[in-house]
Amino acid sequence: MKELSNSEKIECDLLLQAIFMKYGYDFRNYTKPSIRRRIHNRLTRYNLKTISEMQHTLLHNKKFFETLLLDITINVTEMFRDPSFFKTVRKTVIPNLKDRPFVKIWHAGCSSGEEVYSMAILLREEGICRNFRIYATDMNEAVIDKAKKGIFSIAKMKNYTQNYIDSGGKASFADYYTARYDFALMDSSLRKDIVFSVHNLVNDGVFGEMDLIVCRNVLIYLNKELKDRVFSLFWESLCPGGFLCVGSKETVRFSTYSDSFEDVTRKEKIYRKSFHPLPVTTGDCKLSQSASRSPERKAEAGLADYSIMTTVTS
Ligand SMILES: C[S@@+](CC[C@H](N)C(=O)[O-])C[C@H]1O[C@@H](n2cnc3c(N)ncnc32)[C@H](O)[C@@H]1O
Repeated sequence: MKELSNSEKIECDLLLQAIFMKYGYDFRNYTKPSIRRRIHNRLTRYNLKTISEMQHTLLHNKKFFETLLLDITINVTEMFRDPSFFKTVRKTVIPNLKDRPFVKIWHAGCSSGEEVYSMAILLREEGICRNFRIYATDMNEAVIDKAKKGIFSIAKMKNYTQNYIDSGGKASFADYYTARYDFALMDSSLRKDIVFSVHNLVNDGVFGEMDLIVCRNVLIYLNKELKDRVFSLFWESLCPGGFLCVGSKETVRFSTYSDSFEDVTRKEKIYRKSFHPLPVTTGDCKLSQSASRSPERKAEAGLADYSIMTTVTS
């Protein structure tokens, strides 16, 4: 794709500002080239000539904005994605959690839930059956609704079955879903210990005392300042010695919070909260609470009230 002109870059930045002011979603600290490219690529799809025209349309048409939101947040995911990661979680993380009276896991940026159902299956196979809760969150309400339903394309099940086997699966993957026409319906018993909710890593708050946080293939889209905010959020949400898993192309190293997490396995990007205190940061780094989405903006954007989640977790 050709390089955007200076004026197009300005138009993109104004569009992100408009999205924030009107709908409360803050993409201003996402990596610029990638978010600008995604916006620009959508022009032809919507038959629009300029980004300014797109801005006018989204300000006056909420449905258009919702479609664009799904388009610019990349929701690609799969079950047992990166099987070696899940294999390592089985072998390295789960044995540390087994003896705890209750295990709390947060999947942040879980998209349509494939990763979450994978974890529920893994926990069951590793003997963590009743004494756990998974909090599955994403900024995008549409994908969370899909995740709640647990209905996936049957065409993908062949690939997911292979991933499951490669991840050290102990049963037959087909036992976990019912095939109906073109769809696979995940076993409802997997869902009963999962709480699905909208949560935005940019401006929503901490979760209490998590034993494990999984946030994979999300940080890659954020600039350093925003990554720092998210690592601080995770550090505060983890119990002492709690685990943090990020995606294969992501790392806590090079962030301001590098010393706050120690390596468990470098290859699979699994860390543990260290006892090193959080660094003192400037206002720029730890995004201020004033950036939080107001209840009014939340209501306008039709978002679930996050305080409900904190009630459940506490
Ligand atoms: C590429 S998917 C990754 C899904 C899953 N974690 C995986 O690795 O397969 C990225 C997800 O992050 C979500 N996301 C992006 N920014 C977010 C934010 N600020 N807060 C919460 N979720 C976010 C997107 O909506 C999208 O569903």
